[in-house]
Amino acid sequence: MARVPLMAGNWKMHGTRAEARQLAGALARSIGAVTDREVLIAPPFTALDAAREAIAGTRILLGAQNVHGEDRGAYSGEISAQMLVEAGCTHVIIGHSERRQYYGETDAGVNARLRGALATTLIPIVCVGETLAEREAGSTLQVIERQVHDGIAGIDPAHHPRFVLAYEPVWAIGTGRTATPEQAQEVHLAVRKRIAELAGPAVADGVRILYGGSVKPDNIDALMAQPDIDGALVGGASLDAVAFARIVQFQESRQ
Ligand code: PGA
Repeated sequence: MARVPLMAGNWKMHGTRAEARQLAGALARSIGAVTDREVLIAPPFTALDAAREAIAGTRILLGAQNVHGEDRGAYSGEISAQMLVEAGCTHVIIGHSERRQYYGETDAGVNARLRGALATTLIPIVCVGETLAEREAGSTLQVIERQVHDGIAGIDPAHHPRFVLAYEPVWAIGTGRTATPEQAQEVHLAVRKRIAELAGPAVADGVRILYGGSVKPDNIDALMAQPDIDGALVGGASLDAVAFARIVQFQESRQ
């Protein structure tokens, strides 16, 4: 099955409203009319509407970086899926390793957030990834398979085709150290096999698995040439309109 590439920019905690307007506007101008791939930006919550205005009328999609599992309640500091839909989001990133590392997010928490997103029209981008210690201990695939399994456990299979997954080795995020295309491909293939066991081969064949971790203009082509890499989740380089546009315009060489 031909999977449409998804190129996503995770702005993290960068972007006042004025900066978001400027960056999203510059991006809209530099990307041009891409039709064979999807482009998404995920600004901070407070800049969502400024970014939305700047990309109005373009094909750039809007996403958020986190979501709560409940639709309302006494959860100070949290944002519900419906609130994100109202703000113009079509996608939401869930379980980013920074959430797991700094805010104690667990696979069970990811599962709850995923349920919250799926109760609306949001398309979830569920992140998984091993730490350096886990890689060095040889437990990468075990960790990833657990994160995938526990993250999507018990979700109604009718929702499975909506998932996007992102493999982001923690040791490659913001470090300038990318997984080699072969290292990434090995994990992507394992994720797809796990999805096939959990949700069936048709879902596994259609699910997009993004790679994230120091994606730059000079490594995107080699990453995207791998058969199971279906897009990128880009942090640092997504804050530079020229660099992100170049990443979006990667050269397709997959067979
Ligand atoms: P990076 O971040 O591209 O800056 O490594 C990727 C991510 O955390 O999504």
